[in-house]
Amino acid sequence: MKVGVIGSGGREHALCYSLKNSDKIKQIYCFPGNAGTNSLAKNVDIDINDFKKLKDFIIQNEINFVIIGPEKPLVDGITDYLEKFNIKVFGPNKIASQLEGSKIFTKKLCEKYKIPTAKFGIFLNSEKALSFLENCNFPIVIKADGLAAGKGVYISENYTEASKAVNEIFDGKFGKAENLLIEEFLIGEEMSFFIISDGKSYKMFGTAQDHKRVFEGDKGKNTGGMGAYSPSRLETNELNFKIIKKIIEPTLKGLRELDCEYRGFLYAGLMIVNGEPFLIEYNVRMGDPECQTLLPKLKTDFSIIINKYIEQRLHELNIEWYEDRSICIVLCSKGYPDSFKNSVELNLRNLNLKKNQFIFHAGTKIFKNRTLSNGGRVLNVVTRSNDFKSARTDSLKLLNEINWENGFYRKDIGFKVIDQ
Ligand code: AMP
Ligand code: GLY
Repeated sequence: MKVGVIGSGGREHALCYSLKNSDKIKQIYCFPGNAGTNSLAKNVDIDINDFKKLKDFIIQNEINFVIIGPEKPLVDGITDYLEKFNIKVFGPNKIASQLEGSKIFTKKLCEKYKIPTAKFGIFLNSEKALSFLENCNFPIVIKADGLAAGKGVYISENYTEASKAVNEIFDGKFGKAENLLIEEFLIGEEMSFFIISDGKSYKMFGTAQDHKRVFEGDKGKNTGGMGAYSPSRLETNELNFKIIKKIIEPTLKGLRELDCEYRGFLYAGLMIVNGEPFLIEYNVRMGDPECQTLLPKLKTDFSIIINKYIEQRLHELNIEWYEDRSICIVLCSKGYPDSFKNSVELNLRNLNLKKNQFIFHAGTKIFKNRTLSNGGRVLNVVTRSNDFKSARTDSLKLLNEINWENGFYRKDIGFKVIDQ
């Protein structure tokens, strides 16, 4: 089988690693990939927003199956487009991708199917939003409706902050805004919950927790993710059951009633409040860096998962996992998430990687046989171990060995499961 992976981050490198572990997968193509995927796959330099060029390459090279990593092409309808040419795709169609592409679509679904989520209001103009904010309790959460690369969410402590958020959104900071969402601030602990769905059946695909803030102690600006660990410390059979019955199944039913099968990974961002799950957001893909912590724990051959997915018989499969804990620490370029330097060399030769240690590349590229940085998040250092503490210690040792002068990383990833 020949498999294509669309994307160029740590998530896509981890996907290539899982695919490479299978004897049944003869060739992997990564569009456009990075310096890490380059050693497992053939990197193909095509813009992932150019669906026609992607389709032409896939057909010419007889690629049997294409996995879509990031959300933007999904929200833009890449699955619908490629399927018109009989290409087999892993990822939801355009209607289902609204779960991530429109927070208001998701909130309305929650309302209709009684899915627990924060109380909310939808506001069509700034006057109405501001007048609501004059009489509400703080903190309050204000969200732009569409995709905003994780940046369209404001947690406002008072009216002044909230009115700034409303004005920025309606002024078009995250693209043309016809409405916005104001929601109740939930107090609890966050958890990421994943499923894999073939349209007819689904399987749970693990839990994780990421650290989005740039500085230790979860302080500072939001980023794409500074690290993650898996499983979440909150995971129990009882909670899994509640999440599935109260959130996942009603969502899949709601989509089915829109004549839409959900296919691909579905990532529920949850807040657990006194043992009860509330949906904060959906993502229609794997998390990054959650994926990098999850896939090294996967025991089942990925080609078996792909075949069951294609046959829409995932329910027959017992997906097996290593019992281990796993921690991913992200090495970033100094200055991230603001401005940073690119094209700084990394020396990754002769590193002492232990068994069950992995380096997944994110923002890297190859230039004249050298590995250069090419983004804010550069490498993901992952260790799988019996316990979280040794997983973190070993990841930190490897980062110390990499000793990249242009970089920084958080040393406290997983503090809730290690230090408290
Ligand atoms: P989102 O992009 O919707 O995941 O929001 C980004 C982050 O904002 C989440 O990971 C939460 O930490 C926080 N957040 C979003 N909505 C709420 C809410 N209703 N209550 C508390 N925190 C929230
Ligand atoms: N780690 C957060 C995300 O992938 O959206």
